[in-house]
Amino acid sequence: MNYTQIQLGFIGAGTLGTALATTLAEHGYQITAVTSRSRASAVRLQSKISGCRIYPTPQQVAENVDIVFITTPDDSIAPVAASITWQPHQQVIHCSGAHSLDLLAAAQKQGAIAGSFHPLQSFADLTQAQANLPGSFFAIEAEGKLLSFLEEIVSTLNGTSIVLRGKDKVLYHAAAVFACNYVATLVKLAVDLWQSFAEPVQPAQAISALMPLLKGTIANIDTLGLPQALTGPISRGDDETIKEHLHSLQETAPALVELYKELGRQTVPIALAKGGLDNIAAMRLYDLLAKRK
Ligand SMILES: NC(=O)c1ccc[n+]([C@@H]2O[C@H](COP(=O)([O-])OP(=O)(O)OC[C@H]3O[C@@H](n4cnc5c(N)ncnc54)[C@H](OP(=O)(O)O)[C@@H]3O)[C@@H](O)[C@H]2O)c1
Repeated sequence: MNYTQIQLGFIGAGTLGTALATTLAEHGYQITAVTSRSRASAVRLQSKISGCRIYPTPQQVAENVDIVFITTPDDSIAPVAASITWQPHQQVIHCSGAHSLDLLAAAQKQGAIAGSFHPLQSFADLTQAQANLPGSFFAIEAEGKLLSFLEEIVSTLNGTSIVLRGKDKVLYHAAAVFACNYVATLVKLAVDLWQSFAEPVQPAQAISALMPLLKGTIANIDTLGLPQALTGPISRGDDETIKEHLHSLQETAPALVELYKELGRQTVPIALAKGGLDNIAAMRLYDLLAKRK
């Protein structure tokens, strides 16, 4: 089957929808229809893809293509799907990481074939999304021809796919929040601490200073894996350093003490697995990092 003969439409011309549509178009897929809440977003997508037409409603997109991607925010996927009269065997895909095909139940009830296609990637803006989409990991939920179609897209994008069960999507997405969003939060907390120095360092400068550390850590995880990539006072069993951290945080940023301890408690088993700690040192660390009574 030649997938480039299939006409694709997008409902929701935001970051992911526009990045996916333009990237697929560059690889020869036919993106022939788009609609969005605002015309400006639809025009932005359409202007990047020849042969793509703007339709005023999701219904008209669905009526004019073979496969519909609903790339609205998660909360709008089910209402949008329910607002459309679907043709039997028409295909519809959402791109949410947290939700199963349940969001498309209204379309399935009318005989449409539903799938989900989640790039395990962080798309903060369009340029960066277009750069990061190829080579990503993709979680797919689909069957039959639609599964083959989605796997073909992944291979076109030089990505890797995993077929997930619907019931695993929420945990899969919670894991992504740890590995992505909370990394950004932890960097923000680190930058905030730099503002408490006797000579505060501007946030932009602090981020630049932390960046080689972050990139080095990610490179270590990539090349050495866990637990080998773990470094720092817990991996070495440096009790005194940890006591000083806790003391200093208590004075300067008391709201971070419990978070530091919780992350520390989660780090001890990694240090144990790496072999830098024995059980007695680990017990001492757990004591030091115990929750406030
Ligand atoms: N961003 C990421 O890192 C990422 C990664 C993986 C998966 N995803 C998934 O991709 C999907 C889209 O996320 P996103 O980050 O691209 O969001 P986004 O940038 O906010 O884009 C969503 C777009 O949907 C449009 N929209 C909202 N409600 C609509 C409706 N009722 N009908 C038609 N269009 C509507 C918006 O309209 P207007 O602009 O026209 O107002 C907006 O352009 C979500 O399911 C998300 O979970 C995102």
